[in-house]
Formats: sequence, C-alpha cells, structure tokens
Amino acid sequence: MDVIYLDNNATTKVAPEVVEAMLPYLSQYYGNPSSMHSFGGNVSEKIEAARQHVANLIGASPKEIIFTSCGTESDGTAIRAAIESNPDRKQIITSRVEHPAIKNLYETLSKKGYQVTFVPVDNEGRLDLDYLYKSLNDDTAIVSLMWANNETGVIFPVEKISREVKDRGIIFHTDAVQAAGKFQIDVNNTGVDMLSLSGHKFHAPKGIGVLYIRKGTKFSPYMIGGHQEEGRRGGTENVASIIGLGKAAEMAKQHLDENGYAGVGQLRDKLETSLLERVTNSMVNGETENRLPNTSSIAFEYVEGEAILLMMNEHGICASSGSACTSGSLEPSHVLRAMGVPFTAAHGSIRFSLSGYTTAAEIDFVIEKMPPIIDRLRELSPFWKQKGQVNSCLVD
Ligand SMILES: Cc1ncc(COP(=O)(O)O)c(C=O)c1O
Repeated sequence: MDVIYLDNNATTKVAPEVVEAMLPYLSQYYGNPSSMHSFGGNVSEKIEAARQHVANLIGASPKEIIFTSCGTESDGTAIRAAIESNPDRKQIITSRVEHPAIKNLYETLSKKGYQVTFVPVDNEGRLDLDYLYKSLNDDTAIVSLMWANNETGVIFPVEKISREVKDRGIIFHTDAVQAAGKFQIDVNNTGVDMLSLSGHKFHAPKGIGVLYIRKGTKFSPYMIGGHQEEGRRGGTENVASIIGLGKAAEMAKQHLDENGYAGVGQLRDKLETSLLERVTNSMVNGETENRLPNTSSIAFEYVEGEAILLMMNEHGICASSGSACTSGSLEPSHVLRAMGVPFTAAHGSIRFSLSGYTTAAEIDFVIEKMPPIIDRLRELSPFWKQKGQVNSCLVD
C-alpha cells in the first residue's frame, strides 16, 4: 500500500537530490576533514560549501554556523551557553508551548536553582507579550522562544520580540526547527543571538542539526573536544549528513525564493476547509493567520486521537495526534493544555503536516476517507452519545 505521508513536522522524506549529494561521502571520499592530506582537505571544502548554503537559508554568515547532531543538541547548547556566559543571572524566560527538546531541559535547570518563567499563550496559541515584557529583568540570562509551534504551526512574532529583548541587553535564542525552510528567515531583521535548526525537518537526513551563533555572542561549547567548528563543537564531523544538509538548505532556499510553499499552503487550506465542512463538531486548534503553511491541527470532538490514527493507518494515511502516551495514560499534549483546549477536543486532535511532496490527489483521498472514520468512531463513542452532558472542562 502506498503511504500518504502527512506527518512532516515529525520528520520528512530525504530528498533524492540530497541522497545523491551524500552518497560519494559515504563510499569514495571518506577522508577526515581535519587531515593534512588533500584527500581529507577536499572533504573540508565540501563542508564549507554546505555551511554557506545553510547560512544563505537564514541570512547569516558561514562563520556564524556550527553543525550539531540535531535540533535538541542545538537548543541545549544555546541555553547552556547563555547561562554559563552570564553566571550571575538565574532567570530563563520561555513559553508554555515549547518542544520537549527544550521543555525537559528546564526541569533539570530548575532543580539546579534556575528560575524558569513560562510565558502563557491564549486559546489561539498566541504568546502573551505583556507578560513576557514584564518578566524581563536584570536577572534574566536568556529568553528562548520557538519560532513556530510543531503541533499547531502557530508562528510567534520572533523578529519583533527578539529586538525588544536585545535592546535590554538580554540574549535571545529561538528554536526555529519547524520554521526553517517553510518561510523566509533573515536573522539580520531580528535581534536573534542564537537559532536552532534540524536537518530532518526539511528533507535532509536525521542526526544533523545547526546552531547559528551571531558574531560577538558570548559562547561556551557544550561538546568539548577537538578544534572542529573552530572549537565551538568538538567531534569529527558527520560529513555526509552535513553535505546532505547543505543540499537540502540550497533547495529549501530556492523553493522559498520561488514561492514554493504557497502551493503547500493551498493544499493544506483545501484539506482543512473540506474537513471542517464535512465533519460536524470539528475545529482548528490555534490561530490561522500567523501559521505555518503546511500545518493544520484539527480537533474532532468526542473521539480519541489514537483511534483515529489507527483507522487512518488502515488507509495508509500517516499523521500525529494531540496526545502523548505517557506512563500508560493518554494525556492531551502540553501545547493544547496551555491553550485551554477543552478536554473533549484535545483528545480528538489530529495534526496534519504537509510537504512539497504532498500531492492534490493525496489530499483528495484524505478528504474522502476522514469523515467516515470519524462517523464510525463516534457511533462507538459513549462521549458522543452523551455530548452536551459531558463535562467539556478546560484542561489546565
Ligand atoms: C520545535 C522543535 N524543536 C526541536 C525539535 C527536536 O529536533 P531533533 O529531532 O532534531 O532533535 C523538534 C522535533 O520535532 C521540534 O519540532
């Protein structure tokens, strides 16, 4: 069965051009880029070309780019570098809807005496800017906010916020893992000091990430070792993946320049409007205005997201739910909880995330298959039968 892959915020297909660019560096050209001989030196040149492509994607200079193993490493490195460079400051400001890559680090840091301020969002997923600005003070070591949310696609006004934060002399980091390649980013229009990217979210392989560090930003490495990445991240480079990432960044930039994501946005809109029309008691989670063009989180009330996913799977349709299976109990995601999405909607939330490879025929297929899936599950759902009587309390 062919797979209809609408889970691109989880990971993306590696572009065939990326695979092609990588293959020679897994077979023929295996030299170490740090070696003195030209067999290794040639590899080093390719790494620098990749660095340039990544820099172009976000308007940075290549010297401001370091390669890491993933988005999680980039996020952790940025936060740790900021607090180590400002040992007298103990406050970290972030939002309540960050990815676990960063959210779980705060739990560790809280135990070590850092005060983490979680800025709330409203029921559309928009950040409470007043709360954020009022929280800034002389003890703030770093403000770290995601640029785009992985579950709802809601985009935070990072350009504006980062400039305000920088004006007060505070380091600003953004987790741009879901943003990169989906809309134009130019760090020069921002006050962003550090920015995280992850290759596997834009058609490069898994296991390669990037941290942008603005020139002049105080930095201390997390991975201490050799002189690689100018001493900012030790460890022999993941050569083939870096070269693949460079190719993916080049392609992403080209697509964005040619308005490549507009087509994806049209397909997402068609999917969303059709499902909302055809399925009663369904709604979009999060604001629709400032949102990633590829993402739609739809709540189908009074059904279980996991059951929906299983039935979608029977048709070869891949997506994600708004619940996280933790300790055997299905908890609605912290993002939907922070937005105050009612219990009955959060549990039946499905995230559809498209890519440039998604076709109109695939979207038509999903539009045809989803309504009977929800109808069938509602026939079986005690909550659906008692709807109106069910306490659709706010979660959190
Ligand atoms: C917003 C966001 N940040 C960070 C990460 C972690 O990236 P990686 O999987 O490369 O560690 C993800 C992955 O889903 C993400 O969506």
